Amino acid sequence: MDRQTFFEQLWNDYVAMTPQAQHIHDAFVSEGETIVNDHVAFRTFDRGPITLESLEPHLLALGYTRFAPYDFKEKKLRAYGYLPPEADQPRVFLSELKCDELSASARAIIDNLVAQVDPQRMMKADVLWAGRLWDAPSYEDYQALMAESEYAAWLSIIGLRTNHFTISVNHFQTYDSIEKVLAKVESLGLGINESGGRVKGSPEVMLEQGSTLADRQPFTFADGQVKEIATCYYEFAKRYRDQNGELYQGFVAASADKIFESTYDQGSADSGAAR
Ligand code: NI
Repeated sequence: MDRQTFFEQLWNDYVAMTPQAQHIHDAFVSEGETIVNDHVAFRTFDRGPITLESLEPHLLALGYTRFAPYDFKEKKLRAYGYLPPEADQPRVFLSELKCDELSASARAIIDNLVAQVDPQRMMKADVLWAGRLWDAPSYEDYQALMAESEYAAWLSIIGLRTNHFTISVNHFQTYDSIEKVLAKVESLGLGINESGGRVKGSPEVMLEQGSTLADRQPFTFADGQVKEIATCYYEFAKRYRDQNGELYQGFVAASADKIFESTYDQGSADSGAAR
């Protein structure tokens, strides 16, 4: 699969889950802006066949290279950033939940999910937008995961697909700051993730980021209960140059930590996952 096809398919799956992204995309295009993706991000569990290590070969096959590891102690995540083979193509951020740091009961719920994944299904790149590869969990199990890790709860119902696309604000002409972009997004009637402030990062750390609050959809749990759940969100990034004039390529862990909260319940983004 070539990179263009990969990202087209990924985008199609993403906007089906995240109609706000198409809406935002079209709004900027209609004002003459060009959309270039700064990065896309994936979430997975570090157990069963779907670990970061087993997903990574698909990125390497597309010409990506490992850039830097990241660790999120509080959210119990490890991650890698990957660089594309050519400029103006999206970077990739791939994270996985350190399940050993959860309780035995949460780990058992996750093991039951990943045990349903056919390892053969991991062989093709389209597994990265396969969605849920296991039966829907019960609402009770979902809540048990939510009490320990919002990331785990989200992944248990959304599955493998991009968690967000990210517009490169560096490529915008008129909307040339994160705040201008966020104001425009709000004017479309969409919510902003304000956890850690509207704009995360600064020119000093060479990366500024902002994001929407995730779209929401009804979801039918195994026990028949239907609840509105968070799907995916859209992110905006502006990169700065270092002392050598090189554009910063990494991610800022403190900012990413707050960006993860874009899938938290609206209005409670600061209260942590234990809800
Ligand atoms: Ni991101």
